Amino acid sequence: MILSNPKGTQDFLPQQSRQKHWIETKFRETVALYGFSEIVTPVFEHTELYLRSTGLSTDIVTKQMYSFVDKGNRELSLRPEGTPGVVRAVLQYQLKLPVRLFYIGPMYRYERPQKGRYREFYQLGVETIGEAIPETDIEIIEMGNRFFNNLGLSNVITKINSVGCPICRPKFRNQLKMFLDKNLSDICEDCKVRAEQNPLRVFDCKEEKCQDIYRDAPKITDNLCFDCQNHFQVVLNELAERKIPFELNKMMVRGLDYYTRTTFEFVLTDSKELGSQDSLGGGGRYDNLVEDFGGPKTPAIGFALGLERIMLALGAPTSIKKLVYIIPLDSNAYQHGKQLVSTLRNANIPAMLNNPEKNLRAGLGTADTLSCNYVIIIGSNEMNKKVYTLKDLVKRTQQEIPQDKIIETLKL
Ligand code: HAM
Repeated sequence: MILSNPKGTQDFLPQQSRQKHWIETKFRETVALYGFSEIVTPVFEHTELYLRSTGLSTDIVTKQMYSFVDKGNRELSLRPEGTPGVVRAVLQYQLKLPVRLFYIGPMYRYERPQKGRYREFYQLGVETIGEAIPETDIEIIEMGNRFFNNLGLSNVITKINSVGCPICRPKFRNQLKMFLDKNLSDICEDCKVRAEQNPLRVFDCKEEKCQDIYRDAPKITDNLCFDCQNHFQVVLNELAERKIPFELNKMMVRGLDYYTRTTFEFVLTDSKELGSQDSLGGGGRYDNLVEDFGGPKTPAIGFALGLERIMLALGAPTSIKKLVYIIPLDSNAYQHGKQLVSTLRNANIPAMLNNPEKNLRAGLGTADTLSCNYVIIIGSNEMNKKVYTLKDLVKRTQQEIPQDKIIETLKL
């Protein structure tokens, strides 16, 4: 039997699970301030959903989907991202618009694993469906920033661009195609294919020689139609006014087909931990997706954050757990300890009792292994004086507490 997890997956051991839970709680608190409610959609959907939204020419659809045919001959795929499933559900249940939804859950992409890039990874995502005004873009970006600040991550900047709309993009596409045709002999093989299928995607290329050439290429940001230009300018002005750190990046086109107008990524400014996987999250407008799915014309915008990348950026979690470990030193104290452990649990204080066959030293060792924050020692001395010896393993202090004051002391 293979005793290891599949390539590209991760186990969240208790310490990491605690940190994951903490991040998710901060996320829930932050998005609630902006009126978001939770939606839970399936981990697999009909494959067609992703072909029609994420996009036929994207890496996600062409190379990274976990697709399979089930026993009923249905073509299904593990979700590579959350947006299509959420939009599908909004249409299926005809949710009243506008609606602000958030989700937390695993996504699946068959990628080459490396630090910060996995085949199973968690996203924390939001989708606002039915709001067209640029103020919504600003609120969403501000919310992302507020979340990172709430986590204590102050080194995150928003890279932002506009990718236009079906009015300005086709004209620009032709202009870019002409530029690429002129440089065809100098760009990489992948970009030659991109130039044919989806020219804007060339800006995603990681090859340095291609990037050098594209610096002189025409940019969509400089070729927006009047409405897209106005929308983008309001977003940029207001971000500056609200002092949200951002950087215009005209080469950023994002790797999904449904984007229109504002697109953005939350990037670590100092990415020692993450190297090239420095994008903690990304998103943008997708004003045509609902219509592409057969719904009415409905503007939308959202983003998704990578949970594992946030964990890497935060660094190793602190190991302290709110747990009291009770060590009785004899059988009389053990009987007392049994009552105490249940009294503490009844008062909502997590507690565990040492195995009576284990001595003080072994008990302290277990408390350490379990990362407890407190140890209560009960011996004959404590029983006679009606006190407990309370060790604070974080502050490294020890004191005697009257037995009837233990709950209020632990709750402080
Ligand atoms: P995305 O840029 O493909 O956008 O993914 C968003 C974030 O998910 C990335 O910035 C990264 O932090 C994380 N992520 C992506 N792939 C991996 C991976 N293989 N391993 C670890 N983390 C990863 C979307 O998924 C869009 N649905 C976002 C969106 C929502 N746009 C509008 N609404």
